[in-house]
Amino acid sequence: MSKVAEVFETLEYGPAPESAQFANEWLDKHGRAFGHFIGGNWTDPAVGVSFETANPATAEPIAKICQGTVEHVEAAVAAARVAQPGWWDLGSHARARYLYAIARKIQKHARLLAVLESMDNGKPIRESRDLDIPLVARHFYHHAGWAQLMEDELPDYEPLGVVGQIIPWNFPLLMLSWKIAPALATGNTLVLKPAEFTSLTALLFAELCQEVGLPDGVVNIVTGDGETGAALVDHPDIDKIAFTGSTDVGRVIREATAGSGKRISLELGGKSPFVIFEDADLDSVVEGVVDAIWFNQGQVCCAGSRILVQEGVAEALERKLRARMETLRMGDPLDKTVDMGAIVAPVQLERIESLVEQGRSEGAEVWQPSWSAPREGWFYPPTLCTNVAPSGTLAQIEVFGPVVVMMTFRTPSEAVALANDSRYGLAASIWSENINLALDVAPKIKAGTVWVNCTNLFDAASGFGGYRESGYGREGGEEGLLDYVRLAWEHGAPLAQEPTANAHQEQAPSDGTPAIDRTAKLYIGGKQSRPDGNYSLPVYAADGSSMGDVGRGNRKDVRNAVEAARKAQAGWAARSAHNRAQILYYFAENLEARRDELTGRLAALSGDAEGASTEFDTTIDRIFTYAAWADKWEGRVHNTPFRNVTLAMKEPIGVMGAVCPQAHPLLGFVSCVAPLITVGNAVVAVPSGVGPLLATDLYQILDTSDVPGGVVNIVTGLRSEIVPTLASHDDVDGIWHFGGAEDARRTESASTGNMKRTWVSYGRARDWFDHEQGQGQEFLREATQVKNIWVPYGE
Ligand code: NAI
Repeated sequence: MSKVAEVFETLEYGPAPESAQFANEWLDKHGRAFGHFIGGNWTDPAVGVSFETANPATAEPIAKICQGTVEHVEAAVAAARVAQPGWWDLGSHARARYLYAIARKIQKHARLLAVLESMDNGKPIRESRDLDIPLVARHFYHHAGWAQLMEDELPDYEPLGVVGQIIPWNFPLLMLSWKIAPALATGNTLVLKPAEFTSLTALLFAELCQEVGLPDGVVNIVTGDGETGAALVDHPDIDKIAFTGSTDVGRVIREATAGSGKRISLELGGKSPFVIFEDADLDSVVEGVVDAIWFNQGQVCCAGSRILVQEGVAEALERKLRARMETLRMGDPLDKTVDMGAIVAPVQLERIESLVEQGRSEGAEVWQPSWSAPREGWFYPPTLCTNVAPSGTLAQIEVFGPVVVMMTFRTPSEAVALANDSRYGLAASIWSENINLALDVAPKIKAGTVWVNCTNLFDAASGFGGYRESGYGREGGEEGLLDYVRLAWEHGAPLAQEPTANAHQEQAPSDGTPAIDRTAKLYIGGKQSRPDGNYSLPVYAADGSSMGDVGRGNRKDVRNAVEAARKAQAGWAARSAHNRAQILYYFAENLEARRDELTGRLAALSGDAEGASTEFDTTIDRIFTYAAWADKWEGRVHNTPFRNVTLAMKEPIGVMGAVCPQAHPLLGFVSCVAPLITVGNAVVAVPSGVGPLLATDLYQILDTSDVPGGVVNIVTGLRSEIVPTLASHDDVDGIWHFGGAEDARRTESASTGNMKRTWVSYGRARDWFDHEQGQGQEFLREATQVKNIWVPYGE
């Protein structure tokens, strides 16, 4: 038979290699050795320590990369600091022109970037060419738009300053664009550290910045490993760290930056569920699985690595999947017909192998296709694991490789429970032809992105980021943009120490001083409860006389309060926003009825009758503000360039701790609790230690206003005794702490266990009477997280 006829017979693919010629020429031009890009100049690659970067498909070294030292980081941060005011002063339009020029450059060099990316990372050229690089360009175009609009649309905001950015190796240039584009658009300058395995496209990007004439120091690239990253994190002149990588390193970064005032955004790991209902189109599902877990060899933070399939179709799906896996093509990443390339580095390959072995030893059945992976380079075949318990290693640990587990469920609620049985919450896919079912399940899954009948879709207009231990902060769209700016008033706001709790109280002997006026209990689960330790603390008026006692809560009380909040939260969030608004209005109405009593108490506490009256009025006004916002704090539909709607839903964070300011005990309390509950959170509040009676006076008012038990819980006591428990509690999803700099450090540091979201004031004075500082969208943003639900349409 002739060769052509043979091809028609077997329908086998022939090799279709993409040329590496231009990438090799570019590498050769640089002598295959690269320095750092600092202040618009290249450091000498021959000086200092360097390491090899290799081609994962051949294990051959491609080039030498420099190991950044503390001094390099110093120089880069200094260059960025010098450049920042000028970059911001250029104004919206000029910055937009630069970002537009970068986007154009990326398109003009798209093929070179794609080939270099595949050579350095091992990903198929089909993916780097058709997905990574077009999305990189799209990010710069989208953010050229934000640069242009910033002056008009975000007039109250300003850049954070100098941003340190640390990215992983799985999408080197794409992660760079997610970090750099919003930072530049908003007038920040930056130092970016690429991952040690994949620095090349970042260095080529630096050259493109030079070509467009980007001012020196605006973008700085320092290469190196985790030590270089740590030097960047620790640098005192950095205003924000943006990190994508493992949860373990995210935790280290949270700890290292605690109390420093540095903003952080963390995009961490995942173990994303891929939920298949029995009415799903199974052939589409199979292609979905291919995209979910074999895309980029499964080295994807949001990889659909847990298939949850309804029992009735499990067998059929497994059959179809195995058949499809047999046809996947693995090989040279530069071959245009290849579906799967190589694993980035031997260390990652070993990690995958050892996790699969561990799974096997726990009883998992491990299935791989009959063909063998290439022996040269670092390859791992697509792998399907069944008979895995939900608590098993392979069901819980992020493998970051082409390994998927398959488990079954019977009912939608079982599917949701299994999907949420993870410490992560990055993404999820739901497959069903019943859109009602899919849209019912989507809000119940704790994940930052939910794809309905699709998977792994990304766009610059839509935020991406996690719930739970998948981190916080968003990248993309307005959601992500706001992580790079701050309200202008914050800049230079005085670091006024808040009044600490009444000195007598903080030092009170734990001797159960007898009540003089009355002893207010704690408020937990809608009931007044005696503090577990049965101690109380005195509260004194401005003239030193006793005003009464409050309960001295302890760790057990905090735990009880968290439990009560957890029980109440889902039901509260499920109520309509209108209903929550009604309850807040009713609360204001009932509070107003107690005006004389409460203003009297405020006046006794502060010795300022006029101030007390103003505080009371502002409090009522504040409750009205959040009642007003309840049904207006809406999501939006993002304009992503697919035939689909991307629903950005604002969801409550869950159970929130609120450590209220010491000053203005009534207004401060309401300013924290009202925004949190108006959007559906349940709260454990620690009221002002100076005037805790103002909060404890609210118990009956909360009851009579129909606030369900457990939605607001109040634990009084010594902050040093109760806040650490609240901040480190694994069932608390987030915490606000308005206190001093040391308070901020402790709370941020204690939050790392479950990576809860924190919002702390570092002792920065906030004028609670001022509308811009004391209320509004900033509070609502900190009280919610955005979930993006992608729903394709069309037949
Ligand atoms: P990693 O988190 O160690 O590395 C990510 C980036 O952080 C790199 O640029 C690295 O140099 C830097 N880095 C490492 N230690 C640092 C430190 N102490 N301070 C500052 N920067 C530091 O991830 P790695 O080791 O490359 O991969 C390990 C596992 O992490 C993978 O098997 C995977 O499970 C997970 N991972 C998750 C990613 C995601 O996007 N969610 C991306 C990469 C890895």
